[in-house]
Amino acid sequence: MAETIKVLLSEEEVDAKIKQIGEQISKDYEGRQVHLICALKGGSFFMCELAKRITVPVSLDFMSVSSYGSQTKSSGVVRIVKDLDEPIMGKDVIVIEDIVDSGRTLSYMLDLLKERKPASIKLCTLLDKPDRRVVDVHVDYTGFQIPDEFVVGYGLDYAQKYRNLPYIGIVEFE
Ligand code: IMP
Ligand code: MG
Repeated sequence: MAETIKVLLSEEEVDAKIKQIGEQISKDYEGRQVHLICALKGGSFFMCELAKRITVPVSLDFMSVSSYGSQTKSSGVVRIVKDLDEPIMGKDVIVIEDIVDSGRTLSYMLDLLKERKPASIKLCTLLDKPDRRVVDVHVDYTGFQIPDEFVVGYGLDYAQKYRNLPYIGIVEFE
């Protein structure tokens, strides 16, 4: 199936928003260290840009949970594909996601990570599609709320393609 990509959020808009979130996190965590946990693979571009904008000490780890195949609809099944390298006990954790759709991935990660006794845990997502929420999950930092469209770029893929686009685009199927 051929598809074209229409720009939804430009590179400049996304970068400006990430700078803003970075400033907010730096303020909220003043005098502390933050431990960023990236939800792979989609959250990786966002986390790297965000980490550069945070002025308090930052440490990083990565986790991969999967709820999607290569289709554009969630299967509803979430599983751990790659676990964290380090314990999070006593750390101030922020989970970094590319997008919250049904909310299943983040709420699963949140439940799992809370059991490991971090000092605190917050959620941060670049994009949010509130219309599609199935599980109620409280997100502390949101970049943009977007309409119910399938988007790519800035880490988000369609069948593993388009992650490297420096902007967020809507996939239009022909
Ligand atoms: P949720 O568990 O339904 O909230 O889905 C979250 C995950 O689904 C995200 O981390 C993405 O990997 C993927 N996803 C949801 N919507 C989109 C989209 O519009 N484009 C690309 N991936 C998406
Ligand atoms: Mg993701």
